[in-house]
Amino acid sequence: MSPGLDRGDDLFLLEDAVWVWTRPVGVPIYDFDFHRLMACRRPHDRPDEVVAVARVGALDDHEASHAALLRDGVRLLHDPEQYLRATRLPRWYPLLADLTPRSLWFEGAPDPARIADELGWPIFMKGARQTSRHRRKLSIIAGPDELARALEDYAQDPILGWQDVVCRSLVSLRPVEDPDPERIPSSYEFRTFWWRGELVGCGRYWWEGRDYDLTPDERGPALDVAREAARRLDVPFLVVDIAQRTDGAWTVIECNDAQESGYAGVSPFALWREVVRLERARRAR
Ligand SMILES: Nc1ncnc2c1ncn2[C@@H]1O[C@H](COP(=O)(O)OP(=O)(O)O)[C@@H](O)[C@H]1O
Ligand SMILES: [Mg+2]
Repeated sequence: MSPGLDRGDDLFLLEDAVWVWTRPVGVPIYDFDFHRLMACRRPHDRPDEVVAVARVGALDDHEASHAALLRDGVRLLHDPEQYLRATRLPRWYPLLADLTPRSLWFEGAPDPARIADELGWPIFMKGARQTSRHRRKLSIIAGPDELARALEDYAQDPILGWQDVVCRSLVSLRPVEDPDPERIPSSYEFRTFWWRGELVGCGRYWWEGRDYDLTPDERGPALDVAREAARRLDVPFLVVDIAQRTDGAWTVIECNDAQESGYAGVSPFALWREVVRLERARRAR
C-alpha cells in the first residue's frame, strides 16, 4: 500500500469544515460512510495545502506518509512527534504515570528480576502499541515461567513480533463479563475521543458484548481523568481509554491516535458532527 494518496482513496471536505482522507479498511467498527450521512465536497480547486484527518487504518510508516502527502499538498493532522506521543506507550507513559498502571518496557526480552522488583507478579504484558487480538495467555502473566512461554509466542506473532514489549502492573478492574476464556475478560472500560482537547465522543469499549454505560454520577470522575490525560498529551485528535478499578478509581488503560481507532460504542455520526461544530467555531474566532 502506498504511504500517500492511493487509488481508491478519497480526499474530501466534510461539511465545509474538515478535510478527510479515507481508505476503506473493511472493519465495520472502523469504516464510516461519510457520504451517506454528511455533506462531502471535492472542490475543483483545492487550496495549495490542506490539513487532513486520516481514516485509512493504521499507517505502516507515519513519517513516510507525512512526507509523501506533503508533496501532494496534504498535511496530516498529526506531525510525527504527535503521532508517536499518542500511539507509543513509552512516549505517553511518562506524561501519565500517575493516571495509569505502572509500566516498564524492554527492547528485547523483559527481565524477570526487574519485573519482580518494580512491578511484582502477576503482570499485564503487551506490545508498545497493542496486544495480539486481546489474547489472554499472551497478556496476563503469572510469573517467570509463563513469561518465558509467552515470549516464545511473541517472537512468532505477526502483530507483536515487531513491537517492543511493555509490562504493566496487573490492576483489578471492575468486571463486565468474561464470555471467552481465550480472551482478556471485559472490564468496565470506555473509549473517549478528544478533538483539540474537547470531548467529542464517549462509549463503551467492549462494544460487541453486554451493553453498559456510565451512570450520571460516574461520568464526571471518569471524564475528569480522561480529560486530564488529553490535556497533558496535547495531541489534536486523541483517544483515551479509561476503566474503573474495583476500588472505584478511574485509570487510563491506553491512549491512541483517534485517526487509527475503531469507534467502539461511540456513534461516528455524532462524533463527526461535533468535530465539524468545533472546527466551525474555531474558524469563527
Ligand atoms: N494493567 C492492566 N491490568 C489489568 N487489565 C488490563 C491492564 N491493561 C489492560 N488491561 C485489560 O486488557 C485489555 C486490552 O489491553 P489494551 O492495553 O487496551 O490493549 P490493546 O491495545 O490491544 O487494546 C484492556 O481493555 C483491559 O481490559
Ligand atoms: Mg485497548
